[in-house]
Amino acid sequence: MRRYQLQPAAGEKEELELVLEDAPAPDPGPGEVRVRVTACSLNYRDLLMKRGQSASSAGGGVVPLSDGAGVVDSIGEGVTAWREGDRVMGAFFRDWRDGSFDMSYHQAARGGSCDGMLADFVVGPAESFVATPDYLTDAEAACLPCAGLTAWHGLFERGGLKAGQTVLALGTGGVSVFGLQLATAAGARVVITSSSDEKLAQAREFGAWETINYREHEDWDKRVWDITGKRGVDHVIEVGGPGTLGRSLNSVTAGGHIALIGVLTGFSAPDATLFPLVARNADLHGIYVGSVAMFERLNAFLAEKEIRPVIDRSFSFEEAEAAYAHLRSGEHVGKIVIEIR
Ligand SMILES: NC(=O)c1ccc[n+]([C@@H]2O[C@H](COP(=O)([O-])OP(=O)(O)OC[C@H]3O[C@@H](n4cnc5c(N)ncnc54)[C@H](OP(=O)(O)O)[C@@H]3O)[C@@H](O)[C@H]2O)c1
Repeated sequence: MRRYQLQPAAGEKEELELVLEDAPAPDPGPGEVRVRVTACSLNYRDLLMKRGQSASSAGGGVVPLSDGAGVVDSIGEGVTAWREGDRVMGAFFRDWRDGSFDMSYHQAARGGSCDGMLADFVVGPAESFVATPDYLTDAEAACLPCAGLTAWHGLFERGGLKAGQTVLALGTGGVSVFGLQLATAAGARVVITSSSDEKLAQAREFGAWETINYREHEDWDKRVWDITGKRGVDHVIEVGGPGTLGRSLNSVTAGGHIALIGVLTGFSAPDATLFPLVARNADLHGIYVGSVAMFERLNAFLAEKEIRPVIDRSFSFEEAEAAYAHLRSGEHVGKIVIEIR
């Protein structure tokens, strides 16, 4: 079978290299299944992994990409949950099935501390796969495991989002566009920001209530304040990190909720006071993807509302490098997919 691995590059190159290689197709052990992967999607995390900016990717040697979907192809001893031909998606955390998070789950994060999905076949514990909703294509399903689940976890599992509330989503990448779609479908109104007016026009087509160009309006928190009648938003999907957290704190309403998710502006300390959080009696939750049980609840909601992930562009398996380059360019809206044939 074909698989990619992230390997240390020869010479002075700073990034790990994507290396395409032949390997024997793995056999499922007891309690495992083998999945023929048909589609993967990329996340910003995959750029961090390639740059070696994650402790779990620093040495390379793993199959990249947390997110993939495919078809169960071989069943290991004792597995009753799946049959050959079942359509499934891989869970980001292989071992986080339900309940609260345990730090040991970081030891098996697909595409980071253990092999990911960018291969013809993968094996894993039967319980680390989730049924693909019937109405979705495999390419659409491949968008869900990281970005979709993270937005769901932040807004619904921890944020308790309700109809009639307001949400602020930063930028038009994978997590934020899922946040826009999920919150809109639940009857919330979404303010979304972007560096591009064209992308904001697209976001309005996906249901955005209000849009702000954060390049034109560096003080976008003031715009959020005005748009919401000087009340602030109930939820913030905070994917920016230290460079945006201060303005996100200024944007949240009294008793509101910030889902702290991303590091688009880096890993340093925030450049702002955290006092607005105190003054507003607001909540700040760290969100790291989610469990299999959350993933199943997300899928039930998606199917009920018939939400289809937004795919910006699809690449072939051989074009994996170009898919990474497209993600790095930041030109996309929503998700970037690699289809495996
Ligand atoms: N904690 C978790 O579980 C988790 C899960 C998924 C992702 N993440 C993190 O969340 C972040 C987003 O991930 P993703 O996969 O959705 O990324 P992505 O698809 O690559 O999205 C990138 C987009 O974010 C926007 N952006 C960049 N810098 C920004 C800034 N300073 N302010 C506002 N928007 C900005 C840009 O949108 P415009 O072009 O529209 O401006 C850019 O195209 C990343 O840091 C990622 O590591 C964390």
